[in-house]
Amino acid sequence: MDINTLKQTASAMVAPGKGILAADESSKTIQKRFDKIGVSSNPETNLSYRQMLFTTPGIEECISGVILYDETIRQSIDGVSVPKYLESKGIIPGIKVDKGVKEIPNFPGEKMTEGLDGLRERLTEYKNLGARFAKWRVVYTIGNGMPSEACILANAHSLALYAGLCQEADLVPIVEPEVLMDGGHDLKRCQEVTVQVLKIVYEQLKLYKVELSGTLLKPNMVISGKESPTQASANEIAKVTIDTFKEVVPKEVPGIVFLSGGQTPDQATENLAAINRIGPASAGWQLSFSYGRALQEEALKTWAGKSENIAAAQQVFLERAKKVSAARSVKPT
Ligand code: 13P
Repeated sequence: MDINTLKQTASAMVAPGKGILAADESSKTIQKRFDKIGVSSNPETNLSYRQMLFTTPGIEECISGVILYDETIRQSIDGVSVPKYLESKGIIPGIKVDKGVKEIPNFPGEKMTEGLDGLRERLTEYKNLGARFAKWRVVYTIGNGMPSEACILANAHSLALYAGLCQEADLVPIVEPEVLMDGGHDLKRCQEVTVQVLKIVYEQLKLYKVELSGTLLKPNMVISGKESPTQASANEIAKVTIDTFKEVVPKEVPGIVFLSGGQTPDQATENLAAINRIGPASAGWQLSFSYGRALQEEALKTWAGKSENIAAAQQVFLERAKKVSAARSVKPT
């Protein structure tokens, strides 16, 4: 493990004004997104869409890194491999390395993440293909008796093993424990669960001797459930989110890159601005983004699978990226 390389990459990923584009939708998920615009997903249409995003002029001012999917890291743009193309724009290529979520036996409705078997070899291959960081996502559902202790432990364990393996391969692990927005829970319950989950995640990372200064955390914001009758304001979300992370995220972690998790593009932008307006205080982490849907939603609609819409979609994408970058750059007041 070369800790200096890991630290340098992690800090470049949360460089001032910049954050990460999550474009690592699995084959199933990208089809779900394409269904909304009536496009059929296959390696060619997936690449046309992602090429539109990656070749957007000026996007490198807002985007430090892109999370790729296994299919995309092997594709090329104008004869140049996608990772090389991104590097040529000053964007760091990364890769989703988990293999998705499956139900935990004896715990209906709860999920564990698969993909540890053979991960060491896959990481070496991805490194050789040009990846400099990786992502592993685990999910927790809030519900009656959920998340269970079993779910919290199983997921923290996989995150810690994954992170150790990434660092061994000199790839920065993005550690993504996502407490889902689905459900009628309120802000307080989301906070309780987020604290509970992150405490165990950091216990396991420490147990497995993961060097926290060479990692990034990709969490949910602390937010009301989608079906909750009381939706917290941006300022409330920001305050509780910062309080939560101060309680459980070690100072050595260089950055927190939030996922958007089903928030609208405007909500994800407004909430990130409110979070930065409070700031990390003495914890010192960068408070940035690693958005999938919130960055892509408007551009996807504008593109609609038609080559004549590429320029307009790129314009819309750049505008959203600039807004999110501005939100990430708000100074504490
Ligand atoms: P969303 O921002 O759409 O939640 O996606 C981020 C991500 O990478 C989920 O793993």
